Amino acid sequence: MRSLNINGRAVAVQAEPDMPLLWVLRCELGMTGTKFGCGVGICGACTVHLNDKSCLSCQTPMSTLNTQKITTIEGMQGAEAQALKAAWIDLDVVQCGYCQSAQLMAACALLKQKPRPTDADIDAAMSNIVCRCGTYPRVRAAIHEAAKRRPV
Ligand code: FES
Ligand code: FES
Repeated sequence: MRSLNINGRAVAVQAEPDMPLLWVLRCELGMTGTKFGCGVGICGACTVHLNDKSCLSCQTPMSTLNTQKITTIEGMQGAEAQALKAAWIDLDVVQCGYCQSAQLMAACALLKQKPRPTDADIDAAMSNIVCRCGTYPRVRAAIHEAAKRRPV
């Protein structure tokens, strides 16, 4: 048994050291907002935040975690998160929705680091490369919209 700092709370988990964070979240804790895609660090569907930076949870074994701040889509809060959620709705970004938790997590980490990102910044930061529904243009537009709305 050990403790992780997830969404601002100390959470007790039992997972083995080589268990990826993705499966701890989904299977042990029932936090299914973080999605499984490829499982090999390519698609980005499993993106969460570690200390406010994007992190692929399928590539993050328990043995690498101690007191880091873990944030999932269930706990994504703050000015960037609010602006992004509103822009996502207003620009009707989502289609099937499967990749969107990760898109929002990556976008939120980007806005925390770059409040006015360029298209190149967005291309570099957005870790989710497998949106089967092709929402990329709307994702980009919504990030720009959220950046405009969020007071810097
Ligand atoms: S499920 Fe983690 S990168 Fe694809
Ligand atoms: S919205 Fe369907 S996979 Fe991205």
